[in-house]
Amino acid sequence: MARSGVGGPPDHLCDCPQEADADAADRAGRAVGQEPTIAQLDLEDASALIVGATGGLGSRIARLLAERGARLTLVGRTADRVDALDVPGEKLTLDLRFPSNVGRAVEAAVAAGGGLDVVVNAAGVVAFGPVAELSVDTVEQLFLLNTFMPMVLAKAALAHLREGGVIVNVSAVVAERAMPGMAAYSASKAALTSFDAALAREARRARVRVIDVRPPHTETGLAGHPVAGEAPSLPDGLDPDAVAERIVDAIADGATELASDAF
Ligand SMILES: NC(=O)c1ccc[n+]([C@@H]2O[C@H](COP(=O)([O-])OP(=O)(O)OC[C@H]3O[C@@H](n4cnc5c(N)ncnc54)[C@H](OP(=O)(O)O)[C@@H]3O)[C@@H](O)[C@H]2O)c1
Repeated sequence: MARSGVGGPPDHLCDCPQEADADAADRAGRAVGQEPTIAQLDLEDASALIVGATGGLGSRIARLLAERGARLTLVGRTADRVDALDVPGEKLTLDLRFPSNVGRAVEAAVAAGGGLDVVVNAAGVVAFGPVAELSVDTVEQLFLLNTFMPMVLAKAALAHLREGGVIVNVSAVVAERAMPGMAAYSASKAALTSFDAALAREARRARVRVIDVRPPHTETGLAGHPVAGEAPSLPDGLDPDAVAERIVDAIADGATELASDAF
């Protein structure tokens, strides 16, 4: 497959008619002029980087991608959880709050997979509690991993993603409906979803797809290990196997968004 990166002038900032036509075409699911269409992705032998691969969603997504023939690079934060992953692939333990480690993850995937076709960001942290009790440290933890990291990851990945490639960012339903008691987490995810909207418009010119995924509460255990606060009693969440399968289907099927009502 030919390699393609995102370069050139920042045409996403151009308020020009061609851009409006392209946006209209995207909404209508068709192409105008030479505007590229975004196709399905054959996962057989695709090179896929999964960050958050030790997590409840990331581990399931990784397994499904492996079953469909992808070659995986798997990144988690905790060494024994990375070692315990029973999904085939290159495995790395990295704290992705550090931008240099994000770059290392991408380079490792390119080396292991002979290029890059899929990037799944399923790393994230949550916090609970009222704003009156919110610490600066908690805000920093949330935004470093949930918001800054995906921006650094997207930039690094775009330099390597081949035509037809995909970036998947797992945002959350709270990006659509912010929750009291989760103000900073909601804001970190809303910022990611906003970033994805602009990223998608830039990346499509290189025939790279961006899927902003906004699942409702899912039974992965995330709510049980917040970086601050304590989870309120929550209704039963979604089945993580079903959520992971929906995401992998979206990668293969050419989807460009998975809003909360898609689950
Ligand atoms: N579960 C839900 O209800 C829900 C709903 C909507 C959206 N989401 C989002 O879905 C994503 C996955 O969540 P999950 O439910 O699968 O949670 P999870 O089981 O807690 O997984 C979180 C993942 O993030 C990794 N991680 C945490 N801090 C890191 C760091 N500093 N550097 C690198 N990796 C780090 C963890 O690595 P270790 O395992 O090694 O610590 C783990 O792989 C998150 O972005 C979350 O916000 C979850």
